[in-house]
Amino acid sequence: MRRSISLLVASTLAVVALAPTDAVGQDYYSDIRPILAENCLQCHAEDGIAFSMENAERTFARRRRIASALLERRMPPWLAERGHQDYLADISLDPATLAVIERWAEGGFLKGDPKPDPAPRVARMAGHARFQPDLFLDVIPGGSYLPDPGSTDEYRCFLVDWTGAEESYVTGFRAVPGNLDVAHHVVVYGVEPEMADRYRELEDEEEGAGYRCFGGATPDRLGNRAERTAYEARYPDGLRELNRANWWLAHWAPGMDGHVFPAGTGIRMKPGALIVVQMHYYTKEAPDTPDQNTRLDFQVASSVERPAFHLSQTNGRWLVGERTGSMVIEPGELPTYEYTDNLGQLLGYIAALTGVEEPRIQQLEVHSANLHMHSYGHSGRITLNDPDGRQETLLSVPRWDLRWQRDFTFSEPKVFSRDELRRTSISVECTFENPTEKAVYGGYGSDDEMCFNFSYIAVREGEPATASGGAR
Ligand code: HEC
Repeated sequence: MRRSISLLVASTLAVVALAPTDAVGQDYYSDIRPILAENCLQCHAEDGIAFSMENAERTFARRRRIASALLERRMPPWLAERGHQDYLADISLDPATLAVIERWAEGGFLKGDPKPDPAPRVARMAGHARFQPDLFLDVIPGGSYLPDPGSTDEYRCFLVDWTGAEESYVTGFRAVPGNLDVAHHVVVYGVEPEMADRYRELEDEEEGAGYRCFGGATPDRLGNRAERTAYEARYPDGLRELNRANWWLAHWAPGMDGHVFPAGTGIRMKPGALIVVQMHYYTKEAPDTPDQNTRLDFQVASSVERPAFHLSQTNGRWLVGERTGSMVIEPGELPTYEYTDNLGQLLGYIAALTGVEEPRIQQLEVHSANLHMHSYGHSGRITLNDPDGRQETLLSVPRWDLRWQRDFTFSEPKVFSRDELRRTSISVECTFENPTEKAVYGGYGSDDEMCFNFSYIAVREGEPATASGGAR
């Protein structure tokens, strides 16, 4: 079963399939250049987010660096380990392609005769239906924001009002960064209408447009103990309330165009909701250039067949790791933290998020996994414990890199009936590495750590079974 799906995905992604040949014939222009054109240029272009590979000769000059980045799977950036699940829009290189690179390196990096590049930039959104946006929202107040000149990386959150007047569902998403030289990654969070003013207030208190937000949707400065204490003197338990009120809506990374959520599903937006747009700016290649006119495009439906949500999964105690001693990463250690949610126990929470009345929840479709840690993250795993007592790895990340976090969407969802939910759970497991001299604690700040999974889960709704039907 697994095998047939992977063949299907491999054929739709069509990574320039090259028949194995011996090292003698392997040269840059004939064998390697087509692989780079197909798999790298969406980011490594003159107008892209990393050094350009458009010029074939200059790229050849970087051959050793390129080969090692590929063979060590640092590039293309794709955190998920192969062999566990088949994911939509997988940009990693398949083993046959890597073997070509390896033979080329072993054969002494032959160059061959110059040839024109094959047609570049195939949209890699295999499995996704066509994206047809109907709502367009500007992200940057006043249209322009200059990322902090004092640092090459900045995470900045901007607040955008959701303009829908009625309850509606987001069914597709695209970010259109105004300046691809500095926009590295975009994560979009939704915020419950009741908490919109609290977020606005935090934005007003920070200088300039938006606020710094390294680890998620809330301001970095609340990770600072004194700031947090002052804030919670105003709003008891305020930081936790802020975090409970936001959820992962969508994300964009270079090379992605518009994509739609699985057919028939969507995420509910209430009138008056707020959107937090976390822009990750990486300014090394283009210092002192502003981000201008960045925009979000949404495909919206007034109703969907299967309302969905992102299960936001963590042990809440870890977020106050120092106070509770629940997450303490000592220098030089490599501790692992694990947390499990039983899906049967989440029905009330799911009803509240999706608006589907609890007794009408008949089945759940688990579509994705998405690991989240900060910069001390080392590796992690999301595991499904299925109703038959089997364990299945939904996502394994052998080498964590905060910059490439994303939803990893399965080519087929995992579907569970209401009766099975009590025997079904999802675990998130994070391993941390602390190379500093000081202990690191669980928390919200950029020097603190986190361990989350976000899974996109859709609800199949139906008439509740009657008491005589034996439902409990
Ligand atoms: C989704 C965007 C994206 C794709 C696709 C991509 N890269 Fe990169 N690459 C980057 C970015 C951004 C950097 C800059 C450093 C960083 O952020 O890691 C980079 C850095 C690099 C580096 C230097 C850093 C290192 O690890 O040695 C090499 C070499 C490289 N890429 C090769 C490739 C090759 C070859 C491909 C195609 C097979 C590729 N990349 C595909 C975004 C991408």
